[in-house]
Amino acid sequence: MIETGRSEALFARARGLMPGGVNSPVRAMGSIGREHPIFIDRGEGCELVDVDGNRYLDWVCSWGPLILGHAHPRVVEAVREAAGRGTSYGAPTGAEVALAAEVCERLPSVEMVRMVSSGTEAAMSAIRLARAVTGRDPVVKFAGAYHGHVDGLLAEAGSGLATHGIPAGPGVTAGAAADTIVVPWNDRDAVAAALAERPVAAVICEPIAANMGVVQPAEGFLEHLRSAATDAGALLVFDEVITGFRVARGGVQELHGLEPDLTVAGKVLGGGLPAAAYGGRRELMERIAPAGDVYQAGTLSGNPLAVAAGLATLDELDAGNYARLGRLTEALAAGLRDAAAGLPVRVVSAPGLVTPFFSADPVRDFAGAAACDLEAHARFCRALLERGVYPPASQFEAWFVSLAHDDAAIERTIEAAREAFAEAFA
Ligand SMILES: Cc1ncc(COP(=O)(O)O)c(C=O)c1O
Repeated sequence: MIETGRSEALFARARGLMPGGVNSPVRAMGSIGREHPIFIDRGEGCELVDVDGNRYLDWVCSWGPLILGHAHPRVVEAVREAAGRGTSYGAPTGAEVALAAEVCERLPSVEMVRMVSSGTEAAMSAIRLARAVTGRDPVVKFAGAYHGHVDGLLAEAGSGLATHGIPAGPGVTAGAAADTIVVPWNDRDAVAAALAERPVAAVICEPIAANMGVVQPAEGFLEHLRSAATDAGALLVFDEVITGFRVARGGVQELHGLEPDLTVAGKVLGGGLPAAAYGGRRELMERIAPAGDVYQAGTLSGNPLAVAAGLATLDELDAGNYARLGRLTEALAAGLRDAAAGLPVRVVSAPGLVTPFFSADPVRDFAGAAACDLEAHARFCRALLERGVYPPASQFEAWFVSLAHDDAAIERTIEAAREAFAEAFA
């Protein structure tokens, strides 16, 4: 057993001061049957060191932003240098312009971009813009897709809600709920029916779903969404908060050669500091204030530290590193598949993302993910932690591969996983 006395003591104190003892629900480990989360002292490359001195291979990487791993020297230096010149001005900077140019250059459909501080804000603002542009209220989203804790997008939102079995309703107005139409991922007929029923402002999706575990779009599904949204006069919004700058330089839209009307980005964009963005075609984005009449603002938007971390991170993400990330991901996925041979486990991956589903059947939507053997998955996670491997403590989250991982880290993980799978199904 790993020694966790200090984590336990911190959690006992935290529970009296913060709801559930954490500042974001996915950090709690109750869903995998642990009495307390592991409190972190520091990150080094692909490893976490906890307050009791235990070391773990980290497959969470802050839930996605740390594509270069922890405390990457270039990112640390960029932040240090920026901080020395002031942490926030509330006025424009040249670095913001450089980051905007980088985002527009990488994401094929984005001509203009507005920076915000979180993916939630970015998704919320993109939906507001879609409503303003179309003059319509309803939004179509997919079951198991998470777009942040925006009132109208919480319905069947996968991620932390699914992990903790929390309904979307409490605190959400009836109006917000009524304006959200939830359809199953990969279900063309359901999309068509939703679009036929009411005039819809936007169809928002994670183009590779990653908050119900990783679920790829079925062949032709994204292309169908593109044409169905256009035909219905709705905007297509790709939430690439997880996939953007990760699955490819230009996200899923580059992989599939598709242009959504609006894109939401975050995570990797801020290199581990709070930054996110939404963007799209010029004529749409020029509706945003002060160019246009759709109001959206932020005291810390385009924050100099976050912009510096984002620029340093994106600068490392060249063709060679994307190829390496793809190779590492495939090695991890293949190794996990091998370690689970003969067991009811399906390992799914996209570049930089992996999910071992505890399911005998392929998972193609949220219902499939929800039907996984969550008890066995919880035992698997606990067994990995005991062996110094830190997985996302939820069946509904992706493992995040970073460029700080290497073949040795993958080998160690697969060895631990072999034993953990056996324990999970014992
Ligand atoms: C696809 C997606 N969209 C939006 C968000 C919300 O981002 P944030 O947590 O920065 O508000 C997340 C967060 O995990 C996400 O995965």
